[in-house]
Formats: sequence, structure tokens, C-alpha cells
Amino acid sequence: MTQDLLDLARSVGREASAYVARTRPGGRVDVAATKSSPTDVVTAIDKGCEELIRQRILSVRPDDSFLGEEGDDIIGTSDVQWIVDPIDGTVNFVYGVPFYAVSIAAAVDGEVEAGFVINIANGTEFSATRGGGSYRNSPGKDAIRLEAPTVPRLDHALVATGYHYVREIRTKQAAAVARMIPQVRDVRRIGSAALDLCGLAAGSYDAYVEQGLMPWDLAAGGLIAREAGIVISGLDGSPDERLVMAAHPSISGEFFDLVRACGF
Ligand code: IPD
Repeated sequence: MTQDLLDLARSVGREASAYVARTRPGGRVDVAATKSSPTDVVTAIDKGCEELIRQRILSVRPDDSFLGEEGDDIIGTSDVQWIVDPIDGTVNFVYGVPFYAVSIAAAVDGEVEAGFVINIANGTEFSATRGGGSYRNSPGKDAIRLEAPTVPRLDHALVATGYHYVREIRTKQAAAVARMIPQVRDVRRIGSAALDLCGLAAGSYDAYVEQGLMPWDLAAGGLIAREAGIVISGLDGSPDERLVMAAHPSISGEFFDLVRACGF
């Protein structure tokens, strides 16, 4: 069953990515509305993409539940819930910064079992099943199994992060990041939490911290990172909207202590 869920996530994710790439006009994309703050944008293409994903998945599995970033959630009767971000990295998508992704996860009885993320701008795919490992599939290359590399020391770690859309919250986050910068190699803010977590799995970063992530930002990328050997935690152990911190086990304890000490 898990493999079937991943196969469906992959085929629908590829179709959704092709839809977004084909529909995106050149230059800047028009903003259709704003959400939590004036800079938290949604485009008509986000909505069209989520609609496409919902229709495709529920046409094959009509009894499942569906939770998507753009709303109209569905409570089904099966034990499977789909958790979907049609475009993670919407601001990048609007500006044409090539880091925005379709993210699709399938949870069974509340546990994420399959995850698929595709960078729409370059076609690189990441996937995982629980207990089955994580894979990266780049166009024109063989798929490779991901194993996050050991990090010899925390002060050499490259840390990915992101900021909330609400001004008061991002002000506090920026202060916490300022306290972290002298203790690590450097900090990156790429603009897509799903791709940050996949990048952690692939060894592009050594650690990650963010507050304010929603389930659709975290579900697929979180499984992909975990299956590559990354430890993910939050305020009370499980990562959630309040805090997501993640790192290779070689530095996870020290990194999580640093996150708390910096005031995240
Ligand atoms: C956002 C991105 C960003 C993260 C924000 C998310 P969206 O998702 O993942 O990197 O910092 O917290 O909301 O709005 O582009 O789908």
C-alpha cells in the first residue's frame, strides 16, 4: 500500500509540476490574494495546482481525506490523509527564483508513510517511504539513495532557515538567527521549507531550524529528511508549527541546544 501511495504522489506531483511550469508566465507572476500578512501571497496558479492535485488523487482514492495549503479540505472515510502544498516557495515562484516545489505526502492513521517533492524550476525529484529510504531523481541522471553526511563540528555547520510572514514573529526569528550566526559556518534562507528539508537529506545543508511551518510545509520533506538519517525535533519532541529543528545525529544534540539558547 505504501508504494502505491508514493506512486500516486509521484505521478500526480509530476503532472502538477508540469502544469505550473507550463502556466507560469514570463517575468513576475500576479498575486491573486494575501493570507496571514500582506507579504504572504497566493496566486491563481497555486489554487489551480491544488485543485488539479485534489481531483487527480480523489478520482483514484475517493474515500481519502485531503489537507491542502489553499483550503477546501476534505474529510474522508478511509485512514489515509493527503497533505499537499501545491507550490511551496510561492514568493520564489512569483519572482522567478528557481526554488519552488510541489509537495505531496500521504499519512496513514496520522503517520506520514510516503512523500514526494519536485522542484518545479529544474525537475529534481525527492521521494521517500517510511522505512524504505529517501531518493533523489535528477533529470538525465540515475536515481540515488540519499544518506545525509556526518557533520564533524557544529561551528562548521551550514544551517538552513526561514522566516514567518508576520512581522512581529519574523523580527524575533531574525534576532535568534543573529545569535546563531557566530556559532555556525553560515545560514541560508532559500524560501521553500520542503526543498530545505530535501536539501538536508541530500547534504546541501547540515542543519535546519524554522518556526511557523504548517503541516503541508513539513509532511513530505520531513519524511525525506528522516529517511536519509536526519533527526527532526520540536519543542516537546515532535516538530510542529511552534518549532522544527533538524540535523544529522552527529550534531543534533548540540544543534538543538544551540537553537534553544539562541531563543527560537
Ligand atoms: C513557505 C516556504 C518558506 C517558509 C515559510 C512557508 P509557501 O511556504 O516554505 O520557505 O519559510 O514558512 O510558509 O508559503 O511558499 O507555501
